[in-house]
Amino acid sequence: MSDIDGRVVAITGATSGIGAATARAVVAEGGSVIVSGRRRERLEELVAEIGGVAVELDVRDAAGSHRLVEAALSEFGRLDALVACAGIGAYGGIMDLSDQQLQDMMDINVAGTVWPIRAVVPQFLEQGGGDIVIVASVAGLRGAGDEAVYAATKFAQVGLAGGLDRELRSRGIRVSTICPGGVATEFAMGAGRTADMPGLDEMLRAEDVAQAVLTVLKQPPAMRSLIWSMRSIHEQD
Ligand SMILES: NC(=O)c1ccc[n+]([C@@H]2O[C@H](COP(=O)([O-])OP(=O)(O)OC[C@H]3O[C@@H](n4cnc5c(N)ncnc54)[C@H](OP(=O)(O)O)[C@@H]3O)[C@@H](O)[C@H]2O)c1
Repeated sequence: MSDIDGRVVAITGATSGIGAATARAVVAEGGSVIVSGRRRERLEELVAEIGGVAVELDVRDAAGSHRLVEAALSEFGRLDALVACAGIGAYGGIMDLSDQQLQDMMDINVAGTVWPIRAVVPQFLEQGGGDIVIVASVAGLRGAGDEAVYAATKFAQVGLAGGLDRELRSRGIRVSTICPGGVATEFAMGAGRTADMPGLDEMLRAEDVAQAVLTVLKQPPAMRSLIWSMRSIHEQD
C-alpha cells in the first residue's frame, strides 16, 4: 500500500459531511489538504482545526477551479490527489422540484465535478501521475423514483470517471469512484431530509465513507478500483 503521509490532497465540498471527514482523515494520516467550498467560515474553522489551505470556491466556476492547484503549489509545491466531493441533492418527483433546484443539481454535480478535474489534470500530467476520486452515489448506479435528476447527475459522474480512466490511466492518473448509499450529513436537509427523520442515525457516517476514500488513495500504485459502492447494513432495498 502507498501511504498518505506527505501527500497533498485537494478536496471540494470540504465544508461539511464526507468532504470534511476526508480532510480530517487525510491530515490524521500525515497528509496535507487544500479544502474548498463556498462557506468561508466553515473553511476557516476547519483549517484552524487541522491546518492546510482554504480555497473559497463555487465548483461551477471553471476558471476559479484553478485556484485549487495554485494554492497547492504555492503552499506545498505539489498536488497528489483531488477528491471531488461537492454536490447537492433534493428529493421529489420530476414535476415536484423547481426549475432552479434541478438546474442547481445538474450544474453543481456535473459541471462542478468536471471543472476541478480539468484544473488538476495538467498538473498531474506534468508530475507524472495523480489520483482523482469522485464521490458519486449508489444513485449513480441505478435510478430511484424520487430522485431521478439527482440520479442522472450521479450517473454522469460515473460515466465521466469511466471515460477518464480509459483516457488518463496510461499517463499515470488513477480515477476512482465512490458510490455510497445514505450517509448522515447535511445532504438534502430541508430538501427531502430533516434532522429528526427516522433512519438518519442508521445511515453510514461521513467518517466511514472518508475511510473508503483513503483506502482507494492508498492502493498499491499499480492497482485501480473503478467503482466502490458501500451501504449501511441497515439500508433496505
Ligand atoms: N449524504 C448522502 O446520503 C450521500 C449519499 C451518496 C452520495 N453523496 C454525495 O456525497 C457528496 C458529499 O455530500 P455530503 O453527504 O457530504 O453532503 P453535505 O454535508 O451537504 O456536503 C456537501 C458539500 O458540497 C459543497 N457544495 C455544495 N454546492 C457547492 C458549490 N456550488 N460549490 C462548491 N461546493 C459546494 C458544500 O459546501 P458549501 O455549501 O460550503 O459550498 C459541502 O461542503 C455529494 O456529492 C453527494 O451527492 C451523499
